[in-house]
Amino acid sequence: MNHFLDINKTSVEELRGMIDSAKAIKSARNGRPKGALDDDQPLKDHMVALIFEKPSTRTRVSFDVGVRQMGGQTMVLSGSEMQLGHGETVADTARVLSRYVDMIMIRTFEEATLLEMAEHATVPVINGLTNRTHPCQIMADILTYEEHRGPIAGKKVVWCGDGNNVFASFAHAAGQFGFDLTFSGPEPLDPEMGFVEEARAKGASVDIERDPAKAVHEADLVVTDTWVSMHDAPSARERRHNQLRPYQVNAELMAHAKDDALFMHCLPAHRNEEATNVVMDGPNSVIFDEAENRLHAQKAVMKWALQR
Ligand code: CP
Ligand code: NVA
Repeated sequence: MNHFLDINKTSVEELRGMIDSAKAIKSARNGRPKGALDDDQPLKDHMVALIFEKPSTRTRVSFDVGVRQMGGQTMVLSGSEMQLGHGETVADTARVLSRYVDMIMIRTFEEATLLEMAEHATVPVINGLTNRTHPCQIMADILTYEEHRGPIAGKKVVWCGDGNNVFASFAHAAGQFGFDLTFSGPEPLDPEMGFVEEARAKGASVDIERDPAKAVHEADLVVTDTWVSMHDAPSARERRHNQLRPYQVNAELMAHAKDDALFMHCLPAHRNEEATNVVMDGPNSVIFDEAENRLHAQKAVMKWALQR
């Protein structure tokens, strides 16, 4: 079964194939209206369930639009309104949904929920974000980088801020796509070292640098994300803000990067917190290309998932 659970669980060749396929899918749309069908209809007659246990704008809309453009139909399900949120097991939910739909995308809290869904589903399961990773986002980010600057292999990517789920998928991608990754954040918010060690074992250079100016030196790409993720306790907000404020991406920090360094943020952003408006809306920012590319990258992921 072609589940898309994480970037480290899919082969380098398949990942590269998906990025190339996303580029082709994007260029084939040729500026046509958003509601128009693609010429290629790999999801024709297919039904896709989109399950959300957390809020979403980009993931929800880009999957829904992507399925429809490729000829399929969707149903968007809120976890709390399903029996899943009221005691039915994930395994039974997976078995039941597999009798009705051809593919499942799930955004959930615990990674265990995603893995249990994949274990018991007889249709492909796609990770639309868990507390630990966000692989579809980073597929879109690789596509975005390469559209603007060419191959990402060998480039210096610097993450400023919280060592969260989006960073973790960047670490997976560093190992698979072969770019250098520097994490710059406060020690209490370090990523799980397993992500770092796995990328290093695959030959990627992954550094931890507490000084954000040193970290960003000669960067090709600077990335940040919200200081408080959906799975973080709201009560931790003030402490996290105090810890992360030195890692704000502002014009002064970006000045340490290469002149043509790109800036990325998966969005939603808390403007003038993790990054200033000057950077978010500046000439090196590609945040809305990233958002658009969720659509094209996920179409490539879904097309791949249906093969076999
Ligand atoms: N970047 C991202 O996944 O956004 P949403 O939470 O809006 O889906
Ligand atoms: N780290 C963020 C990403 C949102 C797309 C979160 O998990 O809330």
